[in-house]
Amino acid sequence: MKFYYAPMEGITLYPLRNIHKEIMGDGVDKYFTPFLTATSVHHFKNREKKDVLPDKNYAFDDYGNQVVPQIMAGNAGDFLWAAGEMKKLGYEEVNLNLGCPAPTVVNRHKGAGLLQDPGHLDEMLYEIFDGIEKGSFPKVSLKTRLGFKDEAEAENLMNIYAKYPVKELTIHARVREDFYSGSPRYDAFERAVSAYKSNGGKADICYNGNVSTINIEETKKLTFDNVMIGRGLLTDPSLVRQLKGGEGLKPGELKEYLDRLYAAYAEYIPEDRNVIFKMLEHWAFLHVHFKDCDKCLKTIRKSRSKGEYHAAVNNIFASCEFV
Ligand SMILES: Cc1cc2nc3c(=O)[nH]c(=O)nc-3n(C[C@H](O)[C@H](O)[C@H](O)COP(=O)(O)O)c2cc1C
Repeated sequence: MKFYYAPMEGITLYPLRNIHKEIMGDGVDKYFTPFLTATSVHHFKNREKKDVLPDKNYAFDDYGNQVVPQIMAGNAGDFLWAAGEMKKLGYEEVNLNLGCPAPTVVNRHKGAGLLQDPGHLDEMLYEIFDGIEKGSFPKVSLKTRLGFKDEAEAENLMNIYAKYPVKELTIHARVREDFYSGSPRYDAFERAVSAYKSNGGKADICYNGNVSTINIEETKKLTFDNVMIGRGLLTDPSLVRQLKGGEGLKPGELKEYLDRLYAAYAEYIPEDRNVIFKMLEHWAFLHVHFKDCDKCLKTIRKSRSKGEYHAAVNNIFASCEFV
């Protein structure tokens, strides 16, 4: 079984990917970038371009196999343009986003919006895989949900995916209307995998949804080859090591991770205040490691300068029991 770090907009950018890999080693097999939007004008935003530059991904010597750019596109032409750009940078795989639930994305018929019109999705995938066969492109993996409104939509979607030479099919076991909450739809996931395989689908299946040490036994009962983890890794950066039977997170290790992440974000964005905002996105998940930490956490949240932030972080490590 392989372990993947899920794409998360604004979070799994290169500072996090590099620092996570440096501190946690080779446990995670692939890191997915947050989506890059393939616009009709065929131009990436500067921050999107920067995120996939080989020299920014310094922790990945054979980065082509370990960082997977994810692309958000509403049609095959735009997707193929973006995939071609990734090939030029050396990437061997790109991932198509078929799951983003944000209204602004869905209304533009992208992300999970594509699941609403299976006819268009089928045509789009036909053109993508036809194009890929004819040119120099990376392999294409898909990241989908079970449907838009109803998990019963999965069967038809799986029939469509099974027709194409997909590198890997990641299924987030929810529908768009679930957004990110509630229990994953485990039974519907099983039915979807079975529909995919019975329709001749050959790609490896990657399971995604709420993987943590708490529900790993439930997850392991499912039918999949690999697993993708998002919030579980934000909450516990050592999760993959633990799932492989290794040690739990140690306080010193978490401290180093936080310090190095701060330094990496400080190079990525200019002002202390913005760096602290980025770190607070992590603290929203990481605070669970500190018992009765409300007061200390509040001081971290209120910090306005690098000095205040680091003092507050030192204080939480010194004052609150690590759990
Ligand atoms: C803040 C946030 C940003 C996300 N951004 C993306 C994204 O850019 N592309 C994508 O395919 N999924 C995105 N996701 C979904 C995750 O990749 C993943 O499918 C979801 O969080 C469920 O997995 P988890 O329970 O392991 O976190 C995002 C999720 C969160 C919480």
